[in-house]
Amino acid sequence: MNPSLNGEHESRITIQGVELALGFPDEFNFRWIGQRDVLDQLLAAWLVIDKYDIPLNPRLIGKPGVGKTTLAYAAAKHLNKPVYIFQCTMDTRPEDLIITPVVDKGGGIRYVASALVTAMIRGGVCILDEANRMSEKSWASLAPLLDTRRYIESIVAGLKVPAHPEFRICVTMNDDASTFEIPEYIHSRLQPQIYLDFPEPEEERRILRENLPFIDEHILDYVVAFLQRAHASNENYTVRDGINIARYAAKRIKSLNDKGNGENLLREAIAMTLGDEALMHVL
Ligand SMILES: Nc1ncnc2c1ncn2[C@@H]1O[C@H](COP(=O)(O)OP(=O)(O)OP(=O)(O)O)[C@@H](O)[C@H]1O
Ligand SMILES: [Mg+2]
Repeated sequence: MNPSLNGEHESRITIQGVELALGFPDEFNFRWIGQRDVLDQLLAAWLVIDKYDIPLNPRLIGKPGVGKTTLAYAAAKHLNKPVYIFQCTMDTRPEDLIITPVVDKGGGIRYVASALVTAMIRGGVCILDEANRMSEKSWASLAPLLDTRRYIESIVAGLKVPAHPEFRICVTMNDDASTFEIPEYIHSRLQPQIYLDFPEPEEERRILRENLPFIDEHILDYVVAFLQRAHASNENYTVRDGINIARYAAKRIKSLNDKGNGENLLREAIAMTLGDEALMHVL
């Protein structure tokens, strides 16, 4: 049995005699555009197809800014589940991931559930974002959650928290260098791996349009053409860079009351976002 809830939207709950403060879900307007395959793969990994079946814990991998967090969020929303994002860093401690004791005004101890534990209790989705920034020590506590046991233990609060059957988890990882190696026993618990690649030109244009609905067509065309040439040359520039370039160029053009040279301002926005070397991908 799962711990009984005091009410779906209450932020406190008592489990095994211990009162826990729960977090609130993350609410964004993220919409996933294009690349239907990766969305389908993620949803399939979360699907439960039999009473003896359990969901998988997929891992989204790709370059920074390619859309991993957006995909995970959009997939969770697709299932109409509350989403709880846990941002992992190299300073994430095991208890930060699970339950943190906090001294309250009266000098007593209050236990605060992490985004992960809140999602486990509420039956929501937890996105462990940029999880490979976390050290091996923090991963260790997740082992039972990520296999058939589906529970987590909090040493600090003296609790064993089972995951709600509706609970799903997804981990995003950058393939850049500033990260830790994931221990092998965790690797094998984070399957399948879903790779995100750069979008096609038409998709990239729609993504920019979705994120910047107020921006002129010619700015979008210019930035998409730039990004596509950069992708073809294997540069690591991503949609996020494109959004920043277009946003800054639009601000510059506006702040000069449309009197500046648009083309020069776009070049400037590219150089100021990615450095002068990026200009070699401008026609
Ligand atoms: N397919 C897509 N549909 C909608 N928006 C997208 C898509 N791909 C990228 N984006 C947009 O690009 C930006 C970067 O995406 P996101 O933050 O999800 O990337 P990320 O891979 O998680 O990056 P990081 O590795 O730096 O965390 C966001 O503004 C997001 O809205
Ligand atoms: Mg991200």
